[in-house]
Amino acid sequence: MARETTLTPDHLVWPLFVCEGKNRRIPIRSMPGCFRFSRDLIVKEARAAFKLGIPAVALFPAIPDRLKDPLATESVNPNGLLQQTVRALKQALPELCVITDVAMDPYSSEGHDGYVDDRGRIDNDTTLGILAEMAVAQARAGADIVAPSDMMDGRVGHIRSALDAAGYTGTGILSYAAKYCSSFYGPFRDALDSAPKHGDKKTYQMDPANAREALREVALDVAEGADIVMVKPAGPYLDIVRAVREAVSVPVAAYQVSGEYAMLKAAGARGWIPEDACLLESLLGIRRAGADLIFTYAAPGAARLLNQ
Ligand code: PBG
Repeated sequence: MARETTLTPDHLVWPLFVCEGKNRRIPIRSMPGCFRFSRDLIVKEARAAFKLGIPAVALFPAIPDRLKDPLATESVNPNGLLQQTVRALKQALPELCVITDVAMDPYSSEGHDGYVDDRGRIDNDTTLGILAEMAVAQARAGADIVAPSDMMDGRVGHIRSALDAAGYTGTGILSYAAKYCSSFYGPFRDALDSAPKHGDKKTYQMDPANAREALREVALDVAEGADIVMVKPAGPYLDIVRAVREAVSVPVAAYQVSGEYAMLKAAGARGWIPEDACLLESLLGIRRAGADLIFTYAAPGAARLLNQ
């Protein structure tokens, strides 16, 4: 009766890695319990998760190297891996909320979220057009929400205009508004083979030392039309989640990223922590800090525990 914070499967979004082929389920070494699934298996997995009460999935495609190029051309292919997966999911599970990732890195031969110019610098403004086209391709395939995770300046407004112009006025935007340049993303880059070929992401992702800057980034994205804003990673940035919650009235998402997941799994496997209890405590902490929704690779396991 006196409990201040709730945690239910409704609050969870399950990030999923999708790969080419059929009946493929490839384990990700640094993320025990996570897999790259082929499209047919993604539908099965998403159906099971939806039955557990998880309302949404977020899709990340593992694109073969031969389809990667500097302009991320494959990202707008209507028959590309991601677009096909979205169509299959929406056909099988119309009520499932499908969130797609807008960023160049899964498709870029450079492994960067933005376009790399001939001097090796990230060209923010050239990237905007590419991201907008990518978002429209995803909306056309049936994505309910597009989620720009690239951290280019101005992309939310650009994507909103492009979606509206193409007739997708009902497609939502969840912006990765305060995304830090974090060392906790390593296992994710293993999962997608998407690590940058040169340099780092410090010129577009945020300095972990900055909190006020997060509020500026969030305010810009909301002004440009973000329907939901995200703080990422979650655990080491709970103060930011709280500050953002207090600064805006749109829903706030937090992403318990691959490195946070890997730490829970590794310590749990060694018997150093009780994994289930620590998982639920970590998620409750993120909710208490002010997140409405939480992206977590542990979503099905957490939902099972919460439903018991
Ligand atoms: C890239 C992207 C990343 C994640 C989601 N989208 C990695 C990065 O910025 O390098 C990380 C998620 C995770 O670590 O779980 N657009």
